[in-house]
Amino acid sequence: MCEQPIKFRPLNYQKDVKRIVQLERELFNDPFLRGQLYFYYKKYSTKGSFVATIDSIVNGYIFCIREGDSIHIYTIGVANEFQRRGIGRKLIRLLKRMAIEEGLLVVLEVSANNLPAIKLYLSEEFVTTGSEEGYYPDGSTALYMSYSPDSTNHIDNIDTDNPHEQY
Ligand SMILES: CC(C)(COP(=O)(O)OP(=O)(O)OC[C@H]1O[C@@H](n2cnc3c(N)ncnc32)[C@H](O)[C@@H]1OP(=O)(O)O)[C@@H](O)C(=O)NCCC(=O)NCCS
Repeated sequence: MCEQPIKFRPLNYQKDVKRIVQLERELFNDPFLRGQLYFYYKKYSTKGSFVATIDSIVNGYIFCIREGDSIHIYTIGVANEFQRRGIGRKLIRLLKRMAIEEGLLVVLEVSANNLPAIKLYLSEEFVTTGSEEGYYPDGSTALYMSYSPDSTNHIDNIDTDNPHEQY
């Protein structure tokens, strides 16, 4: 069991990108490269992106880009040795909190083969809005999912602290 406290804070691109690229390589067969992340960081707001740190080392991240009234989860990952400890869920909840505060639609794509991630999204009120066969380099189908805050969502129902207070 992990004894070290897990801390959450907004992602700081300059400070965190190297470790995120390292984790991408560990977690994905087709990882995002530094140049791809840089492109989106320069072109869009990445507000809503967070990291989880353990002993000051980034072991979880959610990298989002904002376009108008929607926010796109570009990638999310948790280091293998720290998975199943609630980090992924907390990262999603931090983003949902912001989506409720700012009235944003959250969208993402996920491989139809990625059952752990799909379970996480469904349990956090995401719904499937479409699919595209052969979307990923390994030929797998993408599911399009979204989370839309509405009048039934209230900030107090999101079980998470404000990470800005922990930064
Ligand atoms: C998907 C991912 C981010 C989840 O992070 P995590 O910190 O392990 O997730 P949590 O501990 O918060 O788990 C939340 C829920 O997700 C689901 N889940 C997570 N891992 C699972 C697994 N291996 N098998 C089945 N369900 C799983 C469960 O419903 C879980 O809730 P529960 O623990 O109450 O059963 C992590 O597995 C990961 O980094 N995977 C590799 C990268 C990836 O696929 N990213 C998603 C791209 S779309």
